[in-house]
Amino acid sequence: MDATAEAGDRWTAVDEYISELLVGADPVLEAALDDSRAAGLPPIQVAPPQGKLLYLLAKIVGAGQILEVGTLGAYSTIWLARGLAPGGRLVTLEVNPKHAEVARANLARAGLADVVTLRLGRAVDSLAQLESEGAGPFDLVFIDADKETNPDYFRWAMRLTRPGSLIVVDNVVRHGAVIDAHSTDPSVVGTRRLNDVMAAERRISVTEIQTVGSKGYDGFALALVLGD
Ligand code: SAH
Ligand code: DHB
Ligand code: MG
Repeated sequence: MDATAEAGDRWTAVDEYISELLVGADPVLEAALDDSRAAGLPPIQVAPPQGKLLYLLAKIVGAGQILEVGTLGAYSTIWLARGLAPGGRLVTLEVNPKHAEVARANLARAGLADVVTLRLGRAVDSLAQLESEGAGPFDLVFIDADKETNPDYFRWAMRLTRPGSLIVVDNVVRHGAVIDAHSTDPSVVGTRRLNDVMAAERRISVTEIQTVGSKGYDGFALALVLGD
């Protein structure tokens, strides 16, 4: 079943209802979406209610440092950066130069050019670089890039966080495909490997929540980093 047939219009209508009533219209975020669309970026950013959740999680942990893997047009980046504590900083990693260019313009318009650093390149390389520079610890990590590399992104997140940090991973359900142990889809294989890594990791407490909405049927992982 594809996402459109599965979702029908109802999940989207409810997402719109929630967004209008509780999330609120925001010209800067709307402009980021408009310019991302105009530049031909894929419309795969988090939905507004999930963007608001990222903002709330940043506030809840009192995040002074946030790391994002997968920027696209910086829609989720803006939500996260707005949740930073005063003086806080966000690092976001993106491999696609066109996405990065759109993202930088969107961040500048949001007044976040000095708060957010975008690193262009393969995320695994940027993550290694961040560690060698002694960056972090990050209080919140949002993993939302190529799904096949999620096990590596999660391992890097563990190295770059501290007890009390949160690690959020997007798209861990993908229309239920995650339960197909025989799948050869690299995204599904990557997500299942991520789940195996998280299941074996004693230094976290983790759950995954299934979601429906304008992006169809999916889900996210939420892991709290514990002490050793
Ligand atoms: N977090 C964004 C959506 C990200 S979409 C939002 O919700 O607004 C995934 C992004 O990851 C794309 O822009 C894609 O170019 C990027 N990406 C894919 N593979 C990558 C890699 N190996 N390293 C860094 N970024 C990557
Ligand atoms: C895709 C990627 C995402 O991060 C997402 O939230 C939805 C879809 C994709 O690559 O298709
Ligand atoms: Mg995503």
